[in-house]
Amino acid sequence: MRPSKFLAALALCAASTLHAETVDRMLLSRGGVVLEVSAPASGIVRIRMGRGKLPEDASWAVPSATRAARLPLKITRNGETVQVGATDIGARIDLRTLRADVLDGGGKLLLADLSGRSALSSEGSFRLRGRMSGDDHIFGLGDKTGTFDRKGGVYTMWNSDTYKFTQATDPLYKTIPFFMAVSDRGQAYGLFFDNTWRSNFDFGKTERGVLSISGVGGPVDYYVMAGPAPKDVLRQYAHLTGSAPLMPQWALGFQQSKWSYKSDAEVRAVAQRLRSERLPSDLIYMDIDYQDRSRPFTVNRAAFPDVRKLAGDLRGQGIRLVLITDPHIAKAPGEGYAAYDSGAAQDVFLKLPGGQYYSGDVWPGAAVFPDFSRAQARRWWGELYTGFLGDGVAGFWNDMNEPSIFNVPTRTMPLDVLHRIESDDFAPRSASHAEMHNVYGQLNSRATYEGLTRLQPDARPFVLTRATYAGGQRYAATWTGDNVSSWQHLKMGVQQLLNLGLSGFSNAGNDVGGYAGERPSPELLTRWFQLGAFMPLFRAHAETGRPDQEPWVGDEPHVEIRRRFISERYRLMPYLYAAAEENSRSGIPLLRPVFLNFPSVLANGDRLGGSEDQFMVGSDLLVAPSPTLESPGDYNVELPGKGWYDYWTGQRLDGKSQLVRPDIAQLPVYVRPGAIIPKQPLVQSTAFVPEGRLELHVYPGTDCHGDIYADDGISMAYQRGSFLRQRIRCEESPSGLKLLFEQREGSWKPWWTGLALYVHGWTADEPPKAVLLPDMAGGAVEISR
Ligand code: GLC
Repeated sequence: MRPSKFLAALALCAASTLHAETVDRMLLSRGGVVLEVSAPASGIVRIRMGRGKLPEDASWAVPSATRAARLPLKITRNGETVQVGATDIGARIDLRTLRADVLDGGGKLLLADLSGRSALSSEGSFRLRGRMSGDDHIFGLGDKTGTFDRKGGVYTMWNSDTYKFTQATDPLYKTIPFFMAVSDRGQAYGLFFDNTWRSNFDFGKTERGVLSISGVGGPVDYYVMAGPAPKDVLRQYAHLTGSAPLMPQWALGFQQSKWSYKSDAEVRAVAQRLRSERLPSDLIYMDIDYQDRSRPFTVNRAAFPDVRKLAGDLRGQGIRLVLITDPHIAKAPGEGYAAYDSGAAQDVFLKLPGGQYYSGDVWPGAAVFPDFSRAQARRWWGELYTGFLGDGVAGFWNDMNEPSIFNVPTRTMPLDVLHRIESDDFAPRSASHAEMHNVYGQLNSRATYEGLTRLQPDARPFVLTRATYAGGQRYAATWTGDNVSSWQHLKMGVQQLLNLGLSGFSNAGNDVGGYAGERPSPELLTRWFQLGAFMPLFRAHAETGRPDQEPWVGDEPHVEIRRRFISERYRLMPYLYAAAEENSRSGIPLLRPVFLNFPSVLANGDRLGGSEDQFMVGSDLLVAPSPTLESPGDYNVELPGKGWYDYWTGQRLDGKSQLVRPDIAQLPVYVRPGAIIPKQPLVQSTAFVPEGRLELHVYPGTDCHGDIYADDGISMAYQRGSFLRQRIRCEESPSGLKLLFEQREGSWKPWWTGLALYVHGWTADEPPKAVLLPDMAGGAVEISR
């Protein structure tokens, strides 16, 4: 520790000379514990603490450039208290205890530290304690089950294959040690605890009013984000861990999957049926049975003689193929299995401390596991996709990457399996599985993402992963794993996806219809399709050995309802795509709790101001399923304000409270007054170019605006300017409406021939006022009533 111009180091005995100076990080030590405070960006403070020395400054979640950027800190000392101030955030440290309270820019306490240096034990474990304010609600931690608000709960971070998980199951598949606390007044702060080891988060369960983070090892390295609004916290978290890259547009289409479509003929029949039933769709997944003896990167040629021809023929129907490629490589030396042979030749598989390969049973039987913590092993893995990409396979699914191991009580590999870290700004070193377990899935999906990017630099990769760690949104979309066909899961799935969205993972879905358990009733399946149509990823999937549950299964009235909702998603594609693009820049998710858009609803304590039962898609659509989905009973929807519209009829509604009589054919959806929603003519796949006009649905109200975003949907050309982005505003006047088309950005020439404008709510019972306009790259239009 050497004091320099940029570093304030207070060896406490001699520290009294420090009064006010500016540094880029502050280092304190007391009783053998070292504490560092820095501010990597406005509104974000980073705190690291270690015994004897600080933990390694490296991360799988926060890129080095982000960590290295340090804002100037202004330091003032008052007796035994040192105050550190940066832009919009600060900390107040007690020099005796090293308790570090985090303050907002105005000096208001965000998080009171109750542990300081006593958080560290001499054995390397830790337990940080902080004060939880009585009116704080807690969100985040990914797709943990339990309640939507994590307050009062305790959660463990340990990636686990949890087939048929329940509301009480914890841990689950992912580790996203980030949460946001939001008060009833809508004031928020966030905390990201960047430690991949097994850890626990307790939100006032063990000690009332105290939140604690504890673990057996790994760094004490955390970031507090000052908000102040919930959306600000998400932007700050996205600044640290990145936002998801823009997915190909087809990933927003309907995705049909099953374990497994077992032959070329079966896959073709599914595609054919989707088309003949007029069920719009973009993707079919092939699960493990397309492979030879479940060996990743092989094909059972008896069942799938020509993947290239299959992929090509499906493409002609607007359907792309996604293949599962699990990380377990069959341990099959001398059998001509290329994935094993090349991996062994390059020495990429994980080993036991004795030097022999670690081997565990998974789908192919005995398997070995790539060490994705080495850049070179990731590169090797990426190359394995060369053949499938050449065949025209569009995307890849990385499953079982907790990693899941069969026939052992821990259901994963032993903690002493050795990984060799050679990546990023980590010091090259070996690391135990105890350290690497929770990041294995993230690094697996990273290897896939990086490989696809190298092999096809101009195509947007699509990777689906089951396990991940914070920051994994940069590489893959995700789903919630092996859910159950039940009403409880349908409801719980919504909160899981909302919390994933609040944890950096906007691109997420769950298995529509439910994966395991009893076959869904026609009503359950239909309701799941209705809600699924509004989820960021819309993927139907089910376990092997179950009766079919594709959308065409059952009586025609049910099929017709599902068709209507899938079709509506395709009509809404311009709106959804603009929201996805916004997410890729800001980290604000597509699926949002109501309070994210309207923090003031939390002041109405009733079920978090409706946020527990309803959700928003983008900034303007509020979807309101029944709080008890299976019940035919009436229910009330509390809207966040007055003057909202019914999405299906376009009628303006009186009052904030709406009484709903549930009807299996309907799902209530409401539109924010002031929304402009772009929609398009129905197509059966995003691969087909819509014909005609772009529809702009205007719902007059305050703060009236909407966004259009378009590009080619598949390539990286949008990063070189080939996109179209435009904001449209509207102003109501006594005689009508003025529409202002802001100047378009980007050079992309869209498909539409002109605009069809629909103004809703002007007349009580009549259809919306329709006006045809030429395409408007800018300018204003007046519309009279
Ligand atoms: C896992 C996945 C599931 C998949 C199955 C076979 O259970 O979660 O989605 O169908 O493995 O690959």
